[in-house]
Amino acid sequence: MTTYLVTGGAGFIGANFLNLLVPRQPGDRFINVDKLTYAANPASLEGLEGSGNYALERVDVADAAAVDRLFEEHAPDCVVHFAAESHVDRSILGPGEFVRTNVEGTFVLLEACRKHWAGSYDGKLFHHVSTDEVYGSLGATGMFTEDTRYDPSSPYSASKAASDHLVRAWGRTYKLPFKLTNCSNNYGPLQFPEKLIPLMILNAVEGKPLPIYGKGENVRDWLYVTDHCEAIWRVIQSGATGETYNVGGHNELMNVEVVDRIIELVAAQTGGDLEALRGLKTYVTDRPGHDLRYAIDASKIERDLGWTPQETFETGLAKTVAWYLENDAWVDAVRSGAYREWIDQNYGAR
Ligand code: NAD
Ligand code: TYD
Repeated sequence: MTTYLVTGGAGFIGANFLNLLVPRQPGDRFINVDKLTYAANPASLEGLEGSGNYALERVDVADAAAVDRLFEEHAPDCVVHFAAESHVDRSILGPGEFVRTNVEGTFVLLEACRKHWAGSYDGKLFHHVSTDEVYGSLGATGMFTEDTRYDPSSPYSASKAASDHLVRAWGRTYKLPFKLTNCSNNYGPLQFPEKLIPLMILNAVEGKPLPIYGKGENVRDWLYVTDHCEAIWRVIQSGATGETYNVGGHNELMNVEVVDRIIELVAAQTGGDLEALRGLKTYVTDRPGHDLRYAIDASKIERDLGWTPQETFETGLAKTVAWYLENDAWVDAVRSGAYREWIDQNYGAR
């Protein structure tokens, strides 16, 4: 039996990861360590309540004493580190929380591993979940490989780059066994509606303006979230220790193309007026330091570990639009913060 400490498991990717793995791995234990910030929604994990191999701990990863207690109590073999402040626009408005959670939080977890795994690193692993944004911006051509030089632009990507450096330094200096994945933009169910795709879906459904930054020509490489989760699992199980794997979907699209596809899908799935929906597109002031283009060369994970994405952008986006249309209670709870009452009732005393 392996015990996984999954940080940030109530957020978008972490919840998709747990919903996939907890039922599939009944012989393993999964401890979800989440501060339950605005970006979390415990309703994302409803299906896991009552699973004997799953527990939620409301803990801030930057709180060293609380993390120490978790290691004492659960004796994890593997940390899967998702927890982060993740939204670029928020990092521009308030970078402090990004440094605290992403940099200090990673430091606290690495130190806990070093302390509690001292003596033998046998069967132990720190898996760090990171982003392609650490590489900065591409021009019109080229792709990020695992050897691309770090050149982050935003406070978010700089804080993630710092955390990646800490993980590799703990590997080199203290021989801590680690693996790292740098992934492109994810989309799919359970994503907080501040990110491009869920924001555009919900605004289109509600007839609100669709704010496109600058000219909408920035390019992102989109990957369906469960394809990312499967890649992380594949790397944890079969990847080489001390290695980095880039994960991406070969789905490079300009933002305006993504918005156009969302409009078409919302029109088709709701019976809405296509021309009226198109009229919601609104070009707004660009994001400062806005990276022009991201594109991932995922040939290492494809070649060495046999991973390939299962969803195309067409199938993944259609499923995503359908999910947001069917799950308005989830959307209301996460947008209004109503789940906080549930948190206070269930976790207030801790
Ligand atoms: P998210 O914002 O949806 O969720 C983050 C989760 O971390 C939330 O549940 C939140 O409550 C928790 N959290 C925040 N601060 C915490 C703290 N101090 N202690 C404990 N928990 C805390 O983020 P996401 O999109 O699911 O991203 C997860 C990870 O994947 C991040 O590390 C991110 O950098 C990385 N990543 C994201 C993408 C993407 O497109 N979303 C792409 C590549 C990599
Ligand atoms: P986002 O989902 O914030 O992800 P990231 O910045 O981490 O790539 O944004 C994706 C792209 O969409 C990015 O180029 C910024 C752009 N964008 C808009 O044009 N309008 C919006 O309202 C948002 C949130 C993003």
